Amino acid sequence: MLAGKRILLGITGGIAAYKIPEFIRLLRAEGAEVKVVCTPQSLDFVTPLTLATTSGNPVVVSLFDAHSGTWVNHVELALWADVMVIAPLTANSLAGLVNGKTDNAVLVTALCTRCPVVLVPAMDHDMWEHQSTLNNIQKAEAMGYALMRPEYGALASGLIGQGRMPEPPAMLQFLTLFQQCHSWWKGKKVLISSGGTREAIDPVRFISNQSSGKMGVALAEAAYCAGAQVTLVRTRGSKMPYFKNINCIEVETALQMQSAISGMANEQDVICMAAAVADFRVDQPSLQKLKKKDQGLNHLIWVENPDILKGLAQENRPYFLLGFALESNGNVQDARLKLLQKGADALALNSLTDSGAGFGTDTNKMTLITHDSTYELSLKSKTEIAVEILNIVAECKLKSSQV
Ligand code: C5P
Repeated sequence: MLAGKRILLGITGGIAAYKIPEFIRLLRAEGAEVKVVCTPQSLDFVTPLTLATTSGNPVVVSLFDAHSGTWVNHVELALWADVMVIAPLTANSLAGLVNGKTDNAVLVTALCTRCPVVLVPAMDHDMWEHQSTLNNIQKAEAMGYALMRPEYGALASGLIGQGRMPEPPAMLQFLTLFQQCHSWWKGKKVLISSGGTREAIDPVRFISNQSSGKMGVALAEAAYCAGAQVTLVRTRGSKMPYFKNINCIEVETALQMQSAISGMANEQDVICMAAAVADFRVDQPSLQKLKKKDQGLNHLIWVENPDILKGLAQENRPYFLLGFALESNGNVQDARLKLLQKGADALALNSLTDSGAGFGTDTNKMTLITHDSTYELSLKSKTEIAVEILNIVAECKLKSSQV
């Protein structure tokens, strides 16, 4: 996905700079072209020779060499890039960036870019939490910079907290998805449900389904990389997202999922109900393990679960509502009927007859139905399908805002 992309990497003086050669190696393995511009302080943590060797290009540290009289054209460098990534971004350079300071080569170059710029701040926990940093982050987002937030974990100071730069594979995945997703998602609030709910029969048994949670997680990850604030309401035992900063709420039953979602629904811009919610639950699950000799399982009384999706479809809702449906035959007419019955804005339809699609697989093939269009999404990874779905939703939202 990054093949042929021109990536301009800005490195500032934080300890995490030592991980950047590995990031460059991953970018180049994807076929991206990489050029590096860095601050003098960053060279305390990584050598220009390592950066030049891994990137295959000379490294820019200063825009002017007093001895040779040569000058680096930072404007050309900035305009060369399809995307600029500043990683790690120190509190100092962040402050410089949002205040238009140009006292190092990274800041001067960043000021000349016309492409998207992704900031990857990394610093000690207390610096990250400091009000001045928080203000600067807010300012940077308002100015249109994309942000990959630092992670929680062990820090160079010996403290444990928020501030770690994400590992190079996570930065690669973030950049890949960021590049593909529509910019409409930036700053939007998104709630996604994933996995199969479990309904207790007794303390050790439950009824559930084959849902792995992979499609919901793929949507959550893509939306996160597109700059959305994502909440993932996932069922116990289902797939966890790769990015640690996705806000996860774990639930087990349909009723728990309903209460988690309904409390937050009206704050959302988009809700995607990718979870496979059990249609029925056992009325009053046994508090003791049911015994075979008592034939306890033969006497279960089932009650219908609320339809969460339908309940979310009230009039004048502030959010776009996307439902999912798995049908034995993938009949689009039936799915259109379901879209109307559920009152959602769109429905992503899976057919049980399609191989490589549906529960548990890493790939999917879907038909996305809106009230006025049908989109065929051919067999590809769930991540790629998620990107296509998000881009269609963004187009729908943009279209409806123009009406
Ligand atoms: O009716 P059906 O189960 O085919 O609909 C699937 C869609 O409805 C999915 O988006 C699923 O998350 C949602 N659903 C729900 N509550 C239920 C059953 C399904 O929200 N009780």
